[in-house]
Amino acid sequence: MTLNVRASSQAKPLLRVLQGEHIAQRPVWLMRQAGRYLPEYRDIRGSAKSFLDFCYSPKLASEATLQPIRRFGFDGAILFSDILVIPDALGQEVSFEVGEGPRLKPIETAADLARLHDRIDLKRLAPVFETIQRVRPELPADVAFLGFCGAPWTVASYMIAGRGTPDQAPARLFAYRFPDLMERLIDKLIDASIAYLNEQIAAGVDAVQIFDSWAGVLPAGEFDKWCLIPLQKIIGGVRSKHRQAKIIAFPRGAASHLVRVARLSGADMIGLDTAVDPVFAQREVQSLVPVQGNLDPLALLAGGKALDHAVDGILKAFAKGGHVFNLGHGILPETPIAHVEQMLKRIRTFSEI
Ligand code: CP3
Repeated sequence: MTLNVRASSQAKPLLRVLQGEHIAQRPVWLMRQAGRYLPEYRDIRGSAKSFLDFCYSPKLASEATLQPIRRFGFDGAILFSDILVIPDALGQEVSFEVGEGPRLKPIETAADLARLHDRIDLKRLAPVFETIQRVRPELPADVAFLGFCGAPWTVASYMIAGRGTPDQAPARLFAYRFPDLMERLIDKLIDASIAYLNEQIAAGVDAVQIFDSWAGVLPAGEFDKWCLIPLQKIIGGVRSKHRQAKIIAFPRGAASHLVRVARLSGADMIGLDTAVDPVFAQREVQSLVPVQGNLDPLALLAGGKALDHAVDGILKAFAKGGHVFNLGHGILPETPIAHVEQMLKRIRTFSEI
């Protein structure tokens, strides 16, 4: 075990965990760490006409990527973009309504599916790769740069429903009614994700995370088909071009399937959602691969003793193996900055005695 990582090595702590090292001082970043809880993000958000324009503005997106690093000194910077740039680059109409979330022209029939491009239009995503090139030289040497994409099932669930729903029922119904169409859509998204992640890596990210935010609504019998196998194919496709690529899988809500994801997906680290029991995760998942997570975003919002208690519990539970501290889902826009500071102080002064 190596203590005092920052003093002893130039290597990025987050990448060292991804390479299988076990370091006592836990690296930390937060899902959705760039965004509305930051006053400096709210200040620049209005500079773009729409949220997609913001994502496609290298100047604004690189600034939003760097803001949480400047303010908090996290160990990882996540590219500022959105998982729904993939449907946009496949030719589906995508927009974001203020206060309402994403809106897409829903895919309901074979004809809707046929209207999508055969392949992802990487030229449309050129501003994202330019953002990566702009951020790269600005990052401190010990901060890892993370790219990302949404997993096929999660992205498909928005493409089919045309919006966020409580349980992505439209996509689940679509998969039962039209399994062949679903397979075609998922295959298209697998190819798109491989091309998109490979381009992000070529542009300069150190590692990538695949967000399967809706893995948890899949019925047990459909999990492998729509979550695990697509993950394996994406990871294989990325590694066929970038053999050393470091990949984090975040199958939110995967529960007992997490064990097979850890064993079979090929991911270097598994993101754990808030509901995962640390005792189970330590024994069944962290014994196979490093884990990331899993503070309840509501504990961070609450602050005080409840936050300290939750942070300590996670640090203790995952002290025996590779662990990157994170939330179990994205930070909530109402989260006070002071609570993020409190959490960081607690993580950075934690010692196991
Ligand atoms: O800080 C970061 O993590 C980087 C940027 C990032 C955003 N979205 C910015 C964003 C990342 C990694 C995402 C991922 C994303 N987007 C996911 C997977 C993670 C998760 O939270 O489950 C999903 C499902 C989406 C789709 C999406 N984008 C939704 C459902 C919404 C509306 C809900 C919301 O939070 O407003 C968005 C919009 C969005 N993406 C915002 C931001 C900062 C807010 C829009 C704004 O600022 O006007």
